[in-house]
Amino acid sequence: MKLYDYLIVGSGLFGATFAYFAHKQGKKCLVIDKRPHLGGNVYCENIEGINVHKYGAHIFHTSNKQVWDFVNSIVEFNRYTNSPVANYKGKLYNLPFNMNTFYQMWGVTTPEEAQTKIDEQKAEAVARMQADGVTEPRNLEEQAQVLIGKDIYEKLIKGYTEKQWGRRCTELPAFIIKRLPVRLVFDNNYFNDKYQGVPIGGYNKLIEGLLADIETKTGTDFFENRRYWENIADKIVFTGKIDEFYDYRYGKLNYRTVRFEQEIIDKPNYQGNAVVNYTERDIPYTRIIEHKHFEMFGQQVYDCPKTVISKEYSTEWEDGMESYYPVNDKTNTKLYSQYKELADNEMNVIFGGRLAEYKYYDMAPIIEKVLNIFYGK
Ligand code: FDA
Repeated sequence: MKLYDYLIVGSGLFGATFAYFAHKQGKKCLVIDKRPHLGGNVYCENIEGINVHKYGAHIFHTSNKQVWDFVNSIVEFNRYTNSPVANYKGKLYNLPFNMNTFYQMWGVTTPEEAQTKIDEQKAEAVARMQADGVTEPRNLEEQAQVLIGKDIYEKLIKGYTEKQWGRRCTELPAFIIKRLPVRLVFDNNYFNDKYQGVPIGGYNKLIEGLLADIETKTGTDFFENRRYWENIADKIVFTGKIDEFYDYRYGKLNYRTVRFEQEIIDKPNYQGNAVVNYTERDIPYTRIIEHKHFEMFGQQVYDCPKTVISKEYSTEWEDGMESYYPVNDKTNTKLYSQYKELADNEMNVIFGGRLAEYKYYDMAPIIEKVLNIFYGK
């Protein structure tokens, strides 16, 4: 008889939600995390009374009512609506591309005028390609222009994308951009989902609620005492890196990462919005996040005298850096499938979450996945 039913490696959203439901079913769980805090990437650090999203801005969004009701049963969510703004050479444009953007770009005021302008620009892009004797877009630059035209591409897509990928759009494959949705309505709400928001009091409240009655140990790396941890529970739920679990025997999976430069600013309101994208190439960061706007609205913004911002720099990943975005190219997909084959043969280990499945997951699908493990058919 082992000490625990489950050892859960990682206290991110996957591990914490798994522990919550296992505990509800009467299972004895221990959650360990190598970081000095719980919560994985949704962890917030409180600075000057502001919940700072330490591992990148997190906005919860879903159309799944069961998921929304579940997270709200742990902590109530606010009405934050993501409406990013783009700054191109000092001029501001609303995102996602909608009637506000088209008005700011071309001065058009009706959906018909906007559509005509977009169609004109798309036709010009096709004509430019045909003049070069090309029928299919050869790279991301051509693809984006065929989908949305030159003006929006050059001012709102080109520089941002080049900073994100660290390569010129002419060197990036066309398939990266499959669609560029446009809205012919004045609607700056970034997500199409039915529900969105941020936990009132921050994401730590969500994690604290999920792990309220569960034993946890932070600053504890599974690999530092692997033998011991492997024998402490009947089953392991592993949410760390799958390649590390197998001692990198086939090689290391690659990632892209983001570096955050954080500043405390001695004024209550720096940019008037949580998210401002910098879409010109010459500004080295991609976005500035002003954290207080996720949770403070109206007068609350001014009742808190300081503000905290994070500049985001998209960076090539190296060992030792935070592993944020999996690289879904041929080499890494093949490598992951080799590790997955090993994982599928494990009897007592459940692999889950973004690192163990080498997959970009938003938060809601993570919750949905765990709900399915416990209550799915
Ligand atoms: P997560 O990384 O959170 O947790 C894994 C945990 O395992 C970590 O705490 C780690 O320390 C621990 N661990 C790893 N190895 C270990 C070991 N050997 N021993 C002990 N512990 C170990 N989603 C969304 O819906 N809206 C959004 O706005 C965003 N924004 C966003 C921004 C950025 C920059 C990124 C990278 C991601 C997002 N996301 C998002 C996605 C979101 O972060 C993601 O869905 C969850 O973090 C996934 O939770 P996991 O539990 O899988 O991983």
